[in-house]
Amino acid sequence: MSYLHKSSPSKIPAGLAPMEGVTDFATRFWYQCVGGMDFTWTPFLRVTDTFPAKFPDLFAPELTTLKGLFPAPLIFQVMGSRPEDVIRTAEAAGDRLTFIDLNCGCPSPTVVGSRAGSSLLEHADQFARFLETVATRLGPDRLSVKMRTGFHSPSEFSNLLAAIKHLPLRHLTVHGRTRPARYTGQADWFLIDEAVRTCTFPVFGSGDVCDHKTLSQRVDTASGVKAVIIGRGALRNPWVFQGARSAPLTSALAAFVLLQDLALESQERLVTWAAGLSPDFFAFKDEARWVHLIETLLSCLRGQHHSDPLEDLQVSSRALSRGKMLWNYLRSSLPEAYMNPALMRVTSLPQLLNGIDEITRQLQLSPGNVPVVYNPEHDWMYSGAGRKPSA
Ligand SMILES: Cc1cc2nc3c(=O)[nH]c(=O)nc-3n(C[C@H](O)[C@H](O)[C@H](O)COP(=O)(O)O)c2cc1C
Repeated sequence: MSYLHKSSPSKIPAGLAPMEGVTDFATRFWYQCVGGMDFTWTPFLRVTDTFPAKFPDLFAPELTTLKGLFPAPLIFQVMGSRPEDVIRTAEAAGDRLTFIDLNCGCPSPTVVGSRAGSSLLEHADQFARFLETVATRLGPDRLSVKMRTGFHSPSEFSNLLAAIKHLPLRHLTVHGRTRPARYTGQADWFLIDEAVRTCTFPVFGSGDVCDHKTLSQRVDTASGVKAVIIGRGALRNPWVFQGARSAPLTSALAAFVLLQDLALESQERLVTWAAGLSPDFFAFKDEARWVHLIETLLSCLRGQHHSDPLEDLQVSSRALSRGKMLWNYLRSSLPEAYMNPALMRVTSLPQLLNGIDEITRQLQLSPGNVPVVYNPEHDWMYSGAGRKPSA
């Protein structure tokens, strides 16, 4: 994998963070169209002593059927409660995987209750033994780890680092929050810096990177990080990786929802459709490419004889919900008029797209060039504050 040597506009490699329920294959495909990332990441695959029985092709088709198609390489993440389950999955993958990433950060009570995710951080010595068992068995550079800064409190972080700092890991990604903090407050990049200074392997930083300014601020604090990953910031502005300040909003959103619709109908069909594309498909320079993608997807979904755009754009309610999830983030980086709550209540994709176009017309903007700029005033939506602070 070459992502440690890439020259993105930010001069530091930046990847799409793993997000369970968000960055599944259809969404990763869409981000490959948006472009500019140095790498992408699967959300966690929960592994056990029997699952997966064979390599999960449909979970990560980039590594099998679609190998070589996409510009940005994929990191494959698993979550497990026992070293042997992680080892079994990595070994069964054979040469499909250069390395495997282990989730040691998920804060969900269900996950923690099953002794996986962030619960691996509860005891530093057990954490180190877990990683050492996997890393020793797989060999140097074949295990990477993504962790938080503590199970109860950030005061645990130094001990956790001391316990693992000499292991032969490929890299360590630190999300600068503890388990109880979940996604609230601010990520602590001083602790990420401590990881950089302590560990013998490369460290990636995660938390609250939303644009090039916030990226520079975080990287100033932890100047030795070898890469950053962007999660919610990439939902708020999917163009963050290229630094573009305007985007073909409705075309890109329509393509996102159609990809979700196809994936929800049949992931296999989505993969088969994608297998017919060539790598040069992913040079999305202008709106015409998005229109081409929409037409190609519509042909796949509705057959060759689609003609009525309103009929064609009717999607399942689950696909629409996913479109609204993206819209809910994205609107926070658009001019204030797009925050109109009525758009979150629409019941069809054409209504959503028409509503957005109507606002674009009222603002006298070009639909192919709506300004998308991270707006820190909307951080409250993602900080756990729950509602807008009064002025
Ligand atoms: C909805 C959601 C799902 C997530 N799922 C995962 C996951 O599957 N694996 C993982 O390692 N981290 C997961 N994370 C954590 C992110 O990868 C990232 O570390 C965190 O959101 C902080 O970065 P951000 O401020 O750029 O969002 C998830 C985060 C969110 C918001």
